[in-house]
Amino acid sequence: MVDRLVGHGDLADIADATDSAILAAMSSRPIRGAVFRGAGRPLVIETLLLDDPAEGEVLVRMVASGVCHSDLHVVDGEWARPTDVVLGHEGAAVVEALGPGVAERPEAAPLGVPGLRVGDLVVLAWTAPCGACVACLRGDAWLCTDPRGAGHRLSAADARLHRADGTTVGAYSGIGTFGERQVVAAEAAITIDPHTPPQIAALIGCAVTTGFGAIVNTAAIQAGQSVVIIGAGGVGLSAIMAAAAVGASPVIAIDAAPAKLELALRAGATVVFGPDEAVAAVARLTGSGADHVFEAIGLTETVELAVDLTRPGGTTTLVGMTPQGRRASIDVYHFVEDGKRLLGSNYGSAVPARDFPRIASMYLDGRLPLDLLVTELIGLGDLDPAFDAMRRRDGARRVVVY
Ligand SMILES: NC(=O)c1ccc[n+]([C@@H]2O[C@H](COP(=O)([O-])OP(=O)(O)OC[C@H]3O[C@@H](n4cnc5c(N)ncnc54)[C@H](O)[C@@H]3O)[C@@H](O)[C@H]2O)c1
Ligand SMILES: [Zn+2]
Ligand SMILES: [Zn+2]
Repeated sequence: MVDRLVGHGDLADIADATDSAILAAMSSRPIRGAVFRGAGRPLVIETLLLDDPAEGEVLVRMVASGVCHSDLHVVDGEWARPTDVVLGHEGAAVVEALGPGVAERPEAAPLGVPGLRVGDLVVLAWTAPCGACVACLRGDAWLCTDPRGAGHRLSAADARLHRADGTTVGAYSGIGTFGERQVVAAEAAITIDPHTPPQIAALIGCAVTTGFGAIVNTAAIQAGQSVVIIGAGGVGLSAIMAAAAVGASPVIAIDAAPAKLELALRAGATVVFGPDEAVAAVARLTGSGADHVFEAIGLTETVELAVDLTRPGGTTTLVGMTPQGRRASIDVYHFVEDGKRLLGSNYGSAVPARDFPRIASMYLDGRLPLDLLVTELIGLGDLDPAFDAMRRRDGARRVVVY
């Protein structure tokens, strides 16, 4: 339960308050967040009031948030999204208060026991599975038809963030990780090993789980299979690390930026190429194409290339997401004659409560070199330059630290 030690939060009274316990005990508290106000416009850092967690919700203090290409799709207007919303969906946080009805994990209970404790390091899931719909019951948490936060509000009629003038502000995917604190659905907050560094924990919230899960869950790569990964950004590098970890061979990485190819080699790729060399190089290395090909950029031309690089009977898995409304074409005659398979991979087909802790453990055991994803630690005010760098294909991940 949330203690109410202080009355209704007032910006002027508490502007200097820094003690997180005091801030957690208020019925609303000021936070700074980067608000998306429309495509093609810079994010605006606003001070907003954040309400207490309601039934089934928790108050969290953000510790880090990655900048994902999916944020850039929104900022650039490639995906239509409502305004005004605190953006960001790749974050880690510390639990500050449990709302009514949230199960408290017993003290010293091992990870995996249901429930949360104040002080837990959590990775925030951008799909908070309801646990009760047909998709959730089937084990397909990423296909949940009733996830909380889907409309960038925790419920259809409600927002936990508002301005002094009474207007409400949403939180992207119900987690809005470009905000200093948020109120999130308890199902979106997944406890991981507290030894995980904040910036690594944040990246598990999207890029790492997406890339790792595409390899391990969606395509279920076996040791010794040949794998091509097109795109070595945050998602693609994570896929390369997972492919290397499960023993795929060779692991062939393709990217247009030479610096990304260097990173791909450090991530565990056995051989790397620019896109122009890809067709000849993959033919030379694999004969008739790779067992598995992954597209992790989101361009129609590389989607088509991915299908072409797949061997007869092999599988192409699409991870990158194009601007809305794009269609790619395949040579149907050859696709059918060759018996190829085509999969889409949303959130790495992940079940957050199962996959986030195991990915963190694999990092801590030295089996996933996730540190090399972090190009630069930045502040909330540096998001626009971070988006510019991503447009220039410069760097893997920039991570806001709070
Ligand atoms: N399926 C999902 O659930 C999911 C989750 C997260 C992100 N995504 C999507 O995955 C994609 C990749 O995200 P990211 O954050 O890794 O992006 P990123 O910007 O970090 O990486 C993209 C990479 O593609 C390379 N690239 C760009 N154009 C190229 C070209 N023409 N040829 C070869 N290489 C090229 C860049 O150099 C860069 O390394 C995005 O579309 C994003 O929206 C999907
Ligand atoms: Zn993302
Ligand atoms: Zn569900």
